[in-house]
Amino acid sequence: MYKRILVTGGAGFIGSNFVRHVLGKFEDVYIVNLDLLTYAGSLENLRDLPNKENYHFIEGDILDQDLVQRTLREFEIDSLVHFAAESHVDRSILGPSAFVQTNILGTFSLLEAARKVWIEEKKLGDGDVRFHHISTDEVYGTLAPDDPAFEETTSYAPNSPYAASKASSDHLVRSYAHTYGMPTTLTNCTNNYGPYQFPEKLIPLMILNALNGKDLPIYGDGEQIRDWLYVEDHCEAIWQVLQKGCSGESYCVGGNNQPANLEIVDTLCEILDELKPSASGKNYASQKTFVTDRPGHDRRYAMKINKINQELGWEPKHNLKDGLLKTINWYLKQEEWIEAISKKKEYQSWMDENYTERTEEEK
Ligand code: NAD
Ligand code: TYD
Repeated sequence: MYKRILVTGGAGFIGSNFVRHVLGKFEDVYIVNLDLLTYAGSLENLRDLPNKENYHFIEGDILDQDLVQRTLREFEIDSLVHFAAESHVDRSILGPSAFVQTNILGTFSLLEAARKVWIEEKKLGDGDVRFHHISTDEVYGTLAPDDPAFEETTSYAPNSPYAASKASSDHLVRSYAHTYGMPTTLTNCTNNYGPYQFPEKLIPLMILNALNGKDLPIYGDGEQIRDWLYVEDHCEAIWQVLQKGCSGESYCVGGNNQPANLEIVDTLCEILDELKPSASGKNYASQKTFVTDRPGHDRRYAMKINKINQELGWEPKHNLKDGLLKTINWYLKQEEWIEAISKKKEYQSWMDENYTERTEEEK
């Protein structure tokens, strides 16, 4: 079992859930978390960790290759789980440069550090070490209504600068396995949701806007389809792949839930109407507003999860209703977390930049 893990981006949404999941499950696993604490990362996401004595935080950049090399040596790291990224499609449309830096060059920097320390210096190979890369279904592009769902053999066809930068990083990982014998695994997962998600993504944004009496901005006609995966299910899938997945392989991870965006927003509103009725006396759905669509907006994603299910026995445990209920209940109890995150000036400036220019559309 891999026991001394370097997690990158562990102060972000999925990374912090992964750190909590693994520390809570095993007493003999040590985690070093390397995170730059960009707008998306926060130590607030890590305040309730179990087994804190098995955890060490380093504030730093994955692009700092010397730091990564030193960390791999000093902590005798045997596995690297790479979450750190710029992760928001809308931001990649308004400013793609950071996505090229962090997602492409950052992944390259980690791969080079691992090649130097693991392969050149220590002559470690398959079974001794593992580089696990977290990627996305968005590398496969978009599906027409009757197209079959994505799977591991689907050709890459990224449409946004975010998806293109992730596709690039996936190709780099693949090439290091093929050329240098780097033991790698890769997971392409669908849209995650759950506790600690930064409120720029659809689900937390809608929950917070609803509670604050603000508009619920639906891009275009709201009929776009995503596959939604509860973050805890994703964390377990990563753990299974890290421990039992075949070196050199990639695995598709999805939630078996494919509602249209409008259905998601309506379900969130219904749950909130029950749990915390609006002071206005109106249903939350009355706050829905159709706004200018995202340029190049992918219409539909769906994922086949046969490979990870058949080879590793993993499947998602949460259906959409259960996952949304857990998520809303979590956000309803997090006044301090919400206050700390919403006060970030990058959050306010992002809300202005992304939404002010969008005009209200007739449906
Ligand atoms: P996030 O934006 O919430 O967190 C990213 C984290 O990376 C932050 O803590 C940030 O501080 C850190 N980071 C950014 N640049 C860094 C750098 N140069 N050095 C060190 N740390 C840096 O992201 P997330 O939603 O948790 O996504 C994690 C990974 O999963 C990403 O690789 C993303 O592409 C992938 N993914 C996410 C989703 C999703 O729905 N959220 C879906 C598919 C794949
Ligand atoms: P998002 O959470 O940004 O994830 P991704 O773009 O990676 O799928 O968006 C999910 C879907 O919700 C996507 O189709 C865009 C849509 N969306 C809105 O309609 N309004 C919003 O304010 C946001 C943030 C997203």
